[in-house]
Amino acid sequence: MSTVFHRSPKQSLPIAVAGDGIEIIDSTGKRYIDASGGAAVSCLGHSNQRVIDAIKRQAQQLPYAHTSFFTTQPAEELADRLVAAAPQGLEHVYFVSGGSEAIEAALKLARQYFVEKGEPGRRHFIARRQSYHGNTLGALAIGGNAWRREPFLPMLIEAHHVSPCYAYREQRADETETEFAQRLADELEQKILELGADSVAAFVAETVVGATAGAVPPVREYFRKIRAVCDRYGVLLILDEIMSGMGRTGYLYACEEDGVAPDILTIAKGLGAGYQPIGAVLVSDRIYRAIVGGTGFFQHGHTYIGHATACAAALEVQRVIADDKLLPNVLARGEQLRGLLREHYAKHPHIGDVRGRGLFVGVELVSDRETKAPFDASLKLHAAIRREAFARGLLVYPMGGTVDGKIGDHVLLAPPFICTARDIDEIVSRLADAIDGALAAM
Ligand SMILES: Cc1ncc(COP(=O)(O)O)c(C=O)c1O
Repeated sequence: MSTVFHRSPKQSLPIAVAGDGIEIIDSTGKRYIDASGGAAVSCLGHSNQRVIDAIKRQAQQLPYAHTSFFTTQPAEELADRLVAAAPQGLEHVYFVSGGSEAIEAALKLARQYFVEKGEPGRRHFIARRQSYHGNTLGALAIGGNAWRREPFLPMLIEAHHVSPCYAYREQRADETETEFAQRLADELEQKILELGADSVAAFVAETVVGATAGAVPPVREYFRKIRAVCDRYGVLLILDEIMSGMGRTGYLYACEEDGVAPDILTIAKGLGAGYQPIGAVLVSDRIYRAIVGGTGFFQHGHTYIGHATACAAALEVQRVIADDKLLPNVLARGEQLRGLLREHYAKHPHIGDVRGRGLFVGVELVSDRETKAPFDASLKLHAAIRREAFARGLLVYPMGGTVDGKIGDHVLLAPPFICTARDIDEIVSRLADAIDGALAAM
């Protein structure tokens, strides 16, 4: 009996003992292709020697120095590198240890900015339904994932939600993409006006929705229209790229593709690629100056912010992505993955949608392709797919509640950036078998 308090204590877990490229090997020698990168984390696979060596070097030299006394070379270099490639105006980096911490920091930063500016009335955060921003209380409060929030509702700060940009389900048949984007921007504007324009601090959104709805990209123009609404009312735009950023979509920052720059941008997961836990908040110069010119410091902090070894790992991850020209591979392999899935499922009665960007791909399952009716939630189709895939040596990230937090099923794929064309073929083949196996048991 394990003394570890596992995520799902009733489930017995194999012991992972080694990594080999895109595979994880368990103690019986069984190999699993990691087609979800854990949860969109392991972008370089599980045995990148350059990153391992960088960690060893930093640990030997200096593993950790508290950030109230020192800065370190890897933290400085990593921040320079992230800023050099960042969207316009994001010029400062606040390091944390993961995604939820990045969101907490982003929320507090937005709030402190308005306090410094003399607008202390700005306290509301607006986010979207069917979103996920993390499991700490602030992040859970702004997230729009109904089942994750439910047990903790009495503990959550007030947050407001508008519709997601989920074209497959929310775009009307008689509506163009532009009209759909405009309707959503109008809805945000209405929400800001309803709350009182001078009481709203920020709008928070995942650039590409991850775990909650399964790699849902925004329609073109959506974020440009959202940016315009935010600017009209002095509301900050916080983009959460914890899952979709750091190359996952084929762009280092996913919002590059949307032609917008947020005021605050959060990253984690692929930043350290699983070699070290690390996240970061990129901050506009305007916000930084308001804080430094006001109180003089951000009233926040954790023991491990700017951890030297974590920064050294993330810095090497960034170098490998550039040196090995992995972003073009993400685009090419992503096209291949979506293309194969669309071809395979062109007439399948239970695959409603194949979507995504780069190597961030979602497959939505439906009981009826015409009406888009989902399967009965009690069947737990997503869990069956996960089991079937696992048995076939394939790790994917299926989830239920795709439609509204209760019903709907999807599979999220986020394979490593180092995947070859043959790896993608194998992933599609094993996934198709797993989906068939799960559907047969329904
Ligand atoms: C978009 C998004 N934001 C925030 C988080 C929270 O990150 P973490 O689990 O590292 O706290 C996640 C994790 O899945 C995420 O996908």
